Amino acid sequence: MDFPSPKSNIEKLQTYKPNFGKSKINNLIRLSANESALGASLNAIKALKIFSSDLNRYPPQVSDELVSAISKRYSLNKKKIILGNGSDELISILAQTFLNYNDEAIYTEFGFLQFPQAIAIAGAMGVVANDVNHTACVDNILSKISRKTKLIFLANPNNPTGTFITKKEVFRLHESIPKNILLVYDAAYSEFVINDDYIDGSELAEKYENVIMLRTFSKLHGLASLRLGWGYASENIIENLMKVRGPFSVNVAAIMAGVAALEDLEFQKKSVQHNLKWMSWLEKELKLLNLEFKSSITNFLLIKFPVELEYSAENAESFLASKGILVRGMKVYGLSNYLRVSIGTKEENLKFINELKTFFRK
Ligand SMILES: Cc1ncc(COP(=O)(O)O)c(C=O)c1O
Repeated sequence: MDFPSPKSNIEKLQTYKPNFGKSKINNLIRLSANESALGASLNAIKALKIFSSDLNRYPPQVSDELVSAISKRYSLNKKKIILGNGSDELISILAQTFLNYNDEAIYTEFGFLQFPQAIAIAGAMGVVANDVNHTACVDNILSKISRKTKLIFLANPNNPTGTFITKKEVFRLHESIPKNILLVYDAAYSEFVINDDYIDGSELAEKYENVIMLRTFSKLHGLASLRLGWGYASENIIENLMKVRGPFSVNVAAIMAGVAALEDLEFQKKSVQHNLKWMSWLEKELKLLNLEFKSSITNFLLIKFPVELEYSAENAESFLASKGILVRGMKVYGLSNYLRVSIGTKEENLKFINELKTFFRK
């Protein structure tokens, strides 16, 4: 071979492709990436406006200010918090830290795409546990455990399905797995959840050595552009992850905005209320259109489209794009009859439904 070739496991992978649109229409309505409908906290924006720290200096390796703010906001132990360049980075370094070439890592059938990607990049074997009714199934996960299993990735609630497994099921899963398997419990959307039978995983990560909870500032806090996530696990796990994480992967702008966002409880409350209100409105409108959808506890909804080509998900996605509305096609997840739609502002939600009505009338 007369050119440098990557490792064989990398060659087979696809680059992650978000739908941020190719359309020339101005003011695109972006409902394709589960972003915050209400933007970010004004406090966070203000913190960035006065951002004048020494740009020539590296950021702190671990920002005590941000770790303390997380610890205070969520009543957690500072020593068990790790910061990352988005929770995506933490997913990657978990795979790199814990998986050897022959190891296996389990992820769920319609689970978050970064899980199989991170496993494959680490050079390990991804093992799929089938969902039941587009929801993670504890028995199916348990049935996939072998002597080679090192990690189990579970997003709860899950993206792109919006579904979740109950507290009881999460406990049953954890009780049933051997202590040498690390449960990666990704709770990216937990702040939107109001259900009593849901847990964000912090309780398990507090108590046990084999659980890490992952969180993000990209969703409720609306700071996706700054790339900021965090994890909660035993000091031993954090110490090992820090050996693999980039030494300065969290930048100063993200730290400043993150601290300010955490303090703005009013914005957080308003965002949750907005999401609940428009989620139930959207559900009602979809029912009127006779469309099936997965009941969701997140800030997005997975909608099923008819199989007839004319009204298919693919056609709907193109039609909506022609009207300046971006939604997420689900082919990459093996859900080609579905589109995933995030809750937007009032105006965006109204426009989305109006254009969807036009699509079915045409
Ligand atoms: C389940 C889940 N985990 C993690 C992430 C990544 O979040 P971040 O922006 O912090 O990398 C996402 C983003 O869509 C997600 O849906």
